[in-house]
Amino acid sequence: MTEMPAPKPSKKLFIKTYGCQMNVYDSDRMADALAPHGYETTGAIEEADLVVLNTCHIREKASEKVFSELGRLREMRAARRAAGGDMMIGVAGCVAQAEGEEIVRRAPVVDLVFGPQAYHRLPELIGRAHNGAAVVDTDFPEEDKFEHLPAARREVTVKRGLTAFLTVQEGCDKFCSFCVVPYTRGAETSRPVEQVLAEARNLAAAGVREITLLGQNVNAYHGLDAAGRTIGLGELCHRLAAIPGLARLRYTTSHPIDMADDLIAAHRDLDALMPYLHLPVQSGSDTILKAMNRRHTRAQYMDVIARIRAARPDIALSGDFIVGFPGETDADFEDTLSIVREVGYASAFTFKYSPRPGTPGAGLGDQVPEPVKAERLERLQALVTAQTRAFAEACVGRTLDVLLERPGRMPGQLGGRSPYLQAVHVEAPEALIGTLQPVLITATGNNSITGKIVTGMEPNSASVVESVASVA
Ligand code: SAH
Ligand code: SF4
Ligand code: F3S
Repeated sequence: MTEMPAPKPSKKLFIKTYGCQMNVYDSDRMADALAPHGYETTGAIEEADLVVLNTCHIREKASEKVFSELGRLREMRAARRAAGGDMMIGVAGCVAQAEGEEIVRRAPVVDLVFGPQAYHRLPELIGRAHNGAAVVDTDFPEEDKFEHLPAARREVTVKRGLTAFLTVQEGCDKFCSFCVVPYTRGAETSRPVEQVLAEARNLAAAGVREITLLGQNVNAYHGLDAAGRTIGLGELCHRLAAIPGLARLRYTTSHPIDMADDLIAAHRDLDALMPYLHLPVQSGSDTILKAMNRRHTRAQYMDVIARIRAARPDIALSGDFIVGFPGETDADFEDTLSIVREVGYASAFTFKYSPRPGTPGAGLGDQVPEPVKAERLERLQALVTAQTRAFAEACVGRTLDVLLERPGRMPGQLGGRSPYLQAVHVEAPEALIGTLQPVLITATGNNSITGKIVTGMEPNSASVVESVASVA
């Protein structure tokens, strides 16, 4: 695609992002799509000409936040109009896709409603919204939106730093009975290999050292390469790891049934692929797994974990858990506690089941009462918090590679991430920002660990390490 000469920015865009990393990535791409049309992003909502809420529908609380924010925006716009100004309001993301017209009925302040498959049409939609009536676009088009979005524009700045997200797969065909994603993001699709590699090369050329590949089911990736062959995520990781300058790869979120042998082997063979895997299981009870339509048993999940650990013994695991799915008994919940103990997670996200309109789970009898959900959540959280702490403490005395990303909290300190995504604080000069350093972990804090650089030792990564100044 030919780059349009960027006109002088004349309008301000403010995007508020809710939900998962895919929304974070999408928000950046919306900003990229609007930049050639004179929009510049701002962190100050008061000066915005266009406010976009990029929303999440996954749990009830997430959706409701949008409507309370729209209430605030209505007042803000009224004040702006009283002063002779104006502001356009758009709702994007998964609430937009799920609720469509309903959003305009409930919140007439909204000018624009558009789903995740319409982001490349945003400039045109804004043009139409200027004519007065609200514009709603929640179509799932045949065309590939990524082909129509401008190439990711990227400079290494404090905001868009040394790490980046890259969506490689979208949508989901799994239909877990609690989940809205198959309805809000549509059928599972994979971006072509060359498109992914081109975007990754761009990012690396702009100084990005670490890429997290994103997808609602990222390990179901099956993209067509230039030779017309379909490749999976394991092979894609191999091709990405060969890009000069990229030191680290991660991917999220994975489904246990899509942990293919070649992906597990990639964890063994690629130093760049971080030994940290987010592999949600949701419940430890076979009865509940079946009711959730997760398509695997507890034993099959444990078998996947065993195979990954055999391939990469230092791998750390993270997970998602839902408590209080309809029909969950005390015994089922005990099974969830026991699978957490059996696996031993480095981190985990825990949620109370939230019935979502239109999903099979919402219609089931035997909904679990709120106080029971709350009590189970508390017990599960206590267990995973203890595991996260134990994992951090087990890192003390180990030397971990840390990607130094930014100035730290204290003068003379830098902040970075361990292979296990832990925030790490290290005494180091600013010149080392952008490099990977071996760090001896000396202590754990509340949400971070600290350590000191081990001099005279090469970091473990096979990739070239240069300072960001020389690649930017
Ligand atoms: N694709 C991912 C999950 C995406 S949603 C996967 O298959 O694992 C992120 C997490 O939100 C899920 O793993 C689940 O734990 C939680 N979640 C999804 N729907 C939910 C609901 N209705 N109530 C509570 N938690 C939910
Ligand atoms: Fe939702 Fe299940 Fe698809 Fe994950 S695999 S996005 S939980 S339906
Ligand atoms: Fe939320 Fe949509 Fe992500 S529902 S979790 S923003 S895919």
